[in-house]
Amino acid sequence: MVDHSYLENFKYKHRNPYHEKLEEFSEFVMRDEEAEVFQGKWNSDVFKRDSELVVEVGSGYGHFMRDYCQDNPDINFVGIDYRFKRSYELCQKLKRLNIDNYRYLRAKGERIGFLFDDSEVDTLLYFFPDPWPKKRHNKKRLFQAPFLESAYKVLKPGGRMFIKTDHDIYYEWMCDVLKDQDKFTIKMQTADMYVEQKDHFLASFQTKFEKMFLKQGQNINGFELISNKGVH
Ligand SMILES: C[S@@+](CC[C@H](N)C(=O)[O-])C[C@H]1O[C@@H](n2cnc3c(N)ncnc32)[C@H](O)[C@@H]1O
Repeated sequence: MVDHSYLENFKYKHRNPYHEKLEEFSEFVMRDEEAEVFQGKWNSDVFKRDSELVVEVGSGYGHFMRDYCQDNPDINFVGIDYRFKRSYELCQKLKRLNIDNYRYLRAKGERIGFLFDDSEVDTLLYFFPDPWPKKRHNKKRLFQAPFLESAYKVLKPGGRMFIKTDHDIYYEWMCDVLKDQDKFTIKMQTADMYVEQKDHFLASFQTKFEKMFLKQGQNINGFELISNKGVH
């Protein structure tokens, strides 16, 4: 089955009151297709400075985005999430921040190939994605070949993707997806990050959902992937 979100002529369809409400934050929020006009121009036209471009898919309540942008004022950061109410609540928090090195997109992660140009992105982040655990819903998982293709396209040569998940079965699924491809090299992979990779960047912060999972005693899985673009 073709996921239409990956097609060029895809149009967002919804009737959600929060879509209109997000307009309150137009200085830092873009919705749906609005953001796609900036493909290839994030640094030049949006941030108006040449810096590392970091993109997070599934920002959720945005704690990581907020902290990371504050701690790294030199990066340009784009956070993406598709839930309306969650996006609205996040924007209310972001508005109080006194930083402008981020933009927030109410958009689908499937659209990164249309949001960003070839080799425009330095780093992709994907933390605690919805695992879609029921077998009949597995096809909704974002981490599949079409997403990897899009990630490869938008990342620079040597660009990196960092992933964390609490969900062991989704982690196994990701391992399988990665077995069948040659676009990314696995630089680091772990099924128990805080035991095996304590000094890795991914172990240096906890997202909101991660804190919850850690409290439940859950092991955290992770990957650091490097794009093979330019290598072969
Ligand atoms: C479990 S939450 C994790 C949020 C955050 N990364 C954290 O770790 O606290 C997953 C988030 O990913 C978002 N999400 C799931 N699939 C998505 C997709 N295809 N495109 C954009 N956002 C997505 C959901 O709306 C949700 O807010």
